[in-house]
Amino acid sequence: AAAAALAISATAALAEGETVGFSQIGSESGWRAAETTLTKTQAEERGLKLQFSDAQQKQENQIAAIRSFIAQGVDAILLAPVVATGWDAVLQEAKEAEIPVVLLDRQVDSSDDLYLTAVGSNLVHEGEVAGKWLVDSVGDKECRVVELQGTTGSSPAIDRKKGFENALAGHDNLKIVRSQTGDFTRAQGKEVMESFLQAENGGKDICALYAHNDDMAVGAIQAIKEAGLKPGTDILVVSIDGVPDLFQAMANGEANATVELTPNMAGPAFDALAAYWKDGTQPAKFLQTESKLYTQADDPAGEYERRKGLGY
Ligand code: AHR
Repeated sequence: AAAAALAISATAALAEGETVGFSQIGSESGWRAAETTLTKTQAEERGLKLQFSDAQQKQENQIAAIRSFIAQGVDAILLAPVVATGWDAVLQEAKEAEIPVVLLDRQVDSSDDLYLTAVGSNLVHEGEVAGKWLVDSVGDKECRVVELQGTTGSSPAIDRKKGFENALAGHDNLKIVRSQTGDFTRAQGKEVMESFLQAENGGKDICALYAHNDDMAVGAIQAIKEAGLKPGTDILVVSIDGVPDLFQAMANGEANATVELTPNMAGPAFDALAAYWKDGTQPAKFLQTESKLYTQADDPAGEYERRKGLGY
């Protein structure tokens, strides 16, 4: 452990003083806010200068920020891409300027020679983990499922949907009866869930909710309660992220399961950059983070407390 600590600090010291531009999507969710906080903390601990840009959910703002980072001659760019398509030109410009780009948490459809590496989870797998939990929990019962999708065109919305459908394939007793975007926000999660409840016999015909992130699940839980039903019991709730509020909901019996996504994407990104700056080391094209399932059986009250100290 001591040797490992020494190795980390030596690498971090090598990266000291470099300037990194970070094009963040916005602040749509608790998870996103934690990722921003942790990226700033990680940069500070390593002595890096971070230029932060909040795109307010707009790809054109991200493209403008990247062009401005290139013009400033930063030493690297972190990009959390709001949607998957439309990045080729600006990534090519960064490449021509010899500025390494690291993707954080979301994927792009561009060729992988346009970026140094991508840090993130296997987003299809996350959906599969959530779906498998539901399949196992429901057994042979008929189950009408409603789905709250993330931002349209974003890789987590595309892949979490796909993974969940993979898990449900062959289990004909489970059917996704309604599926709509809630844009990864609490407010839209609540609003869309209200419309689902209304359309499904006041919610009595819904057996489970699958939300592509915890914030939409938290909004939907509120809508379920306002409809006079018990979330977690009348309607099962499974989502993705592992934010403190979802653990609190699980501790209260109002949510059933979440698949954790670490908000610390910057740590592995900065490690990869430090090695690259040192001697040109090329990292693997995908640095995968863990996707762990948590349920009500996993001490949600304790997990809530633990997460409060993790940058949330
Ligand atoms: O890209 C990761 C997703 O973006 C998180 O699951 C969600 O909360 C965020 O908005």
